[in-house]
Amino acid sequence: MYAQMIKSEATQDDPEKLAAFQARIDAGEKIEPKDWMPEGYRKTLIRQIGQHAHSEIVGQLPEGNWITRAPTLERKAILLAKVQDEAGHGLYLYCAAETLGVSRDEITEMLLDGRMKYSSIFNYPTLNWADIGAVGWLVDGAAIMNQVPLQRTSFGPYSRAMIRICKEESFHQRQGYDAIRQMAEGTPEQKKMAQDALNRLWYPSLMMFGPSDKDSVHSAQSMAWKIKMNTNDELRQKFVDQTVPQAEYLGLTIPDPDLKWNDERGHYDYTDPDWSEFFDVIKGNGPCNVDRLAARNKAWDDGAWVRDGLLAHAKKKAARQHAAE
Ligand code: 3HC
Repeated sequence: MYAQMIKSEATQDDPEKLAAFQARIDAGEKIEPKDWMPEGYRKTLIRQIGQHAHSEIVGQLPEGNWITRAPTLERKAILLAKVQDEAGHGLYLYCAAETLGVSRDEITEMLLDGRMKYSSIFNYPTLNWADIGAVGWLVDGAAIMNQVPLQRTSFGPYSRAMIRICKEESFHQRQGYDAIRQMAEGTPEQKKMAQDALNRLWYPSLMMFGPSDKDSVHSAQSMAWKIKMNTNDELRQKFVDQTVPQAEYLGLTIPDPDLKWNDERGHYDYTDPDWSEFFDVIKGNGPCNVDRLAARNKAWDDGAWVRDGLLAHAKKKAARQHAAE
C-alpha cells in the first residue's frame, strides 16, 4: 500500500524532472536537501532513515540493561561507550531526516504511537552476558553488512552519516566477537551460554535484513533510486557466508542442520528464518515490543519538562531580541 502511494506520488511529478533526477542518480551524483526530488524519494528516505534512527535508539535498551552487570570494569567501560555511540548514531540519522523537512519530534511521535517501525531484532531479550557478546558479534555484524553499502547511497546527508556510523559499528562488532570468544573459550558452562545465545539470536539476526526478496515491497524502487544498494537476500547471504567461519573458529554450531557449503553457487546454503514470526514481531507481537515502546514513551514523557524549558527559553530570547530591534 505504501509502495502504491509512493508510485502514485512519483507519477504526479513532472516526467521531465523525473527523468533528469534518475539520470543524476544513474550517474552516481549525490542528491542534496535543497535539490529537486520526487515526493516518493523524499518519503522513502524519511521512512528508512527514521526507522534506522529509531533502531539505534531502541537498540540501546537491550544492551543498556547489562551495563550495571558487566563482568569486569573493562567490559563495563566498553559497553558504556558502545551504548553511547548508538545514541550518537540516532542523532546523526535524525539530523539527516530533518534535512528532508520532517522534525525530530514528528518522527519520534510516529515511533511512540506505532506509526513508524524500528528493527525487529530489538524485540528480543538479552537474557545473560553471553547475549551481549552475541549481540555485538551478530547484530552489529548484520547491521554493518547492511550499512557499509549505504555509505554510497544517493542522498548526501544519509551517505555522510553512514561513513561515521560504520567506523563505530566496526568497533562494536569486534568487541562483541571478543566477548563471545572469551565465553566460548571459557569454562564448559560459559561455552554452553555462548552456544545458547547463538541458538536464540541466529534467526532474529537473519531477519534484520528484511523479508525475502519476493516479499520486499520497497526494494525495486529503492534500488533504482540508490536508497538501497542491495536486495535483502543478497545481504543476508553475505552475512551467512561471513559468519559461518567465525562460528567455526569459536567452536560454536550455527543452529541450522541444513547449513552447508555449495560449491556450485560459491555460497553457503542455509534455512530461511520463520517468516511468520518476523511478520508477527513487526506487527508488535514480539517478546519485548510492549516493553520497548513503554520505555521509549516513558523517556519521552519524563523529558517533557526539559523540552518545555528549552522552548520557553528560546521564546523569551526571541521576544527580547524583537523588543530590542
Ligand atoms: N525490522 C522491522 N521492520 C522491517 C525489517 C526489520 N528488520 N525489515 C523490513 N521491515 C519492514 C519494512 O520497513 C517494510 O515495512 P513498511 O513499509 O511499513 O516500512 C516491510 O518490512 C517490507 O520490507 P522491505 O524489504 O520492502 O523494506 P525496506 O526496503 O525498507 O528494507 C531494510 C528493509 C533492509 C531494513 C531497509 O529499510 C534498510 O536497509 N534500512 C537501513 C538500515 C537499518 O534500518 N538498520 C537498522 C538495523 S539496527 C541498527 O542499525 C542498530 C545497530 O546499533 C545495531
